[in-house]
Amino acid sequence: MSGASSITATEPYRDVQIRPAVAPDVARVAAIDEAATGEAKPRYWQSLFENFSQARAGCRAFLIAELKGEVVGFICGEVRDFEFGAESCGWVFALTVDPAIRVNSIGTQLFEEICQIFTQAGVRKVRTMIEHDNQLVMAFFRSQGLMVGRFIGMEKNLD
Ligand SMILES: CC(C)(COP(=O)(O)OP(=O)(O)OC[C@H]1O[C@@H](n2cnc3c(N)ncnc32)[C@H](O)[C@@H]1OP(=O)(O)O)[C@@H](O)C(=O)NCCC(=O)NCCS
Repeated sequence: MSGASSITATEPYRDVQIRPAVAPDVARVAAIDEAATGEAKPRYWQSLFENFSQARAGCRAFLIAELKGEVVGFICGEVRDFEFGAESCGWVFALTVDPAIRVNSIGTQLFEEICQIFTQAGVRKVRTMIEHDNQLVMAFFRSQGLMVGRFIGMEKNLD
């Protein structure tokens, strides 16, 4: 599956539309994700779409950036209540923009839109998790005003 779009980096990006995902978007989301991560997970994206399309509308968001009728990015997140002993907050757990047209504010537009949804849902904080050596994603979220939070991730291999 290829993540490459037919849109070139020389085109203007003023016409990007941010909207909720619909079923035909899922294959393209999976392709952009596969291009970014090197791992194909079509069933994961289909299942995520089904869980996030209508259920708990207002607390869950699966948003698409569309340019000239083509999916060029997506963001997923939800409001979670009191997890890890924290206050209710919005979590962003997936965000990817087509590599062909990055650094054109598409990630910013996606993030701003999901933050509006979180605000309307009544929460006052947004959180995410990033790999500590992923400087690109770190730079992006820093540019959006996120700071290192008061939680750290912990993990263990279950062999
Ligand atoms: C992170 C990502 C979503 C950013 O999308 P984008 O549309 O390129 O971001 P924007 O154009 O809105 O950039 C906003 C700011 O982020 C920072 N930024 C973005 N790309 C950057 C880069 N390559 N280097 C340094 N800073 C960068 C800059 O501060 C930028 O502001 P500026 O253009 O005024 O300098 C995109 O790079 C991406 O999809 N990366 C892969 C993510 C991934 O691995 N996803 C899978 C796991 S969820």
